[in-house]
Amino acid sequence: MSVLTERHVTPSILASDFANLSAHVREIMDAGCRVIHCDVMDGHFVPPITFGPMVVAALRESLPDEAYLDVHLMIERPERQVAEFAKAGADGITIQVEATPNIAFALSAIRDSGCNAGLVVSPGTPPTHFGENEIDLALIMTVNPGWGGQPFMSNQLDKIKRVRAMLGDATPIEVDGGINPKTAAQCAEAGATWFVAGSAIFGADDPAAAYREIAAAAGC
Ligand code: DX5
Ligand code: ZN
Repeated sequence: MSVLTERHVTPSILASDFANLSAHVREIMDAGCRVIHCDVMDGHFVPPITFGPMVVAALRESLPDEAYLDVHLMIERPERQVAEFAKAGADGITIQVEATPNIAFALSAIRDSGCNAGLVVSPGTPPTHFGENEIDLALIMTVNPGWGGQPFMSNQLDKIKRVRAMLGDATPIEVDGGINPKTAAQCAEAGATWFVAGSAIFGADDPAAAYREIAAAAGC
């Protein structure tokens, strides 16, 4: 099985301690985590600004080779930044449908750079683009993009079911936002296979135990 076809809880570093980023991530990897979710925000597509390729490269350098960096770009015109994030060591790059008129071009640029190509829809966006493009991963936002710690939008569960029916079993469906043991189980039931969790893991007293609890609930 490849990393894409396995089920994974993918902790988002957005909620981690940035002063101790590498140690914080390694603590979760020691608990069995392999995929690390990196939320890149530009202050335009979404109001906050987080970090860019330099931080991704530093994280890559500091982690074991088996770490898979799942880079979620919440930036305008992501096609202009693909090469930089690939060079920084991203394994997968996921772009927002709403952020570019050049979706197919951006996805093929990601593939050409050697990364897996992901496409993401925000809660108000229909999932039709998933069926129109060649993708390695479909990401369904279960909160509005831009901030950690928001409540899960249960009205997205039906979208997950529809996308699973549309894509068949081969394509991973990732969910992002408000994921905890309860909502992870609901999303798994609807057909999701990758589960982003930020505050539920890095905000917990024992992040490794929180990781294991969500993984168990999601059937990982
Ligand atoms: C939100 C980001 C998420 C965020 C999730 O725009 O894409 O990955 O870190 O955070 P939680 O798990 O706290 O909802
Ligand atoms: Zn994300």
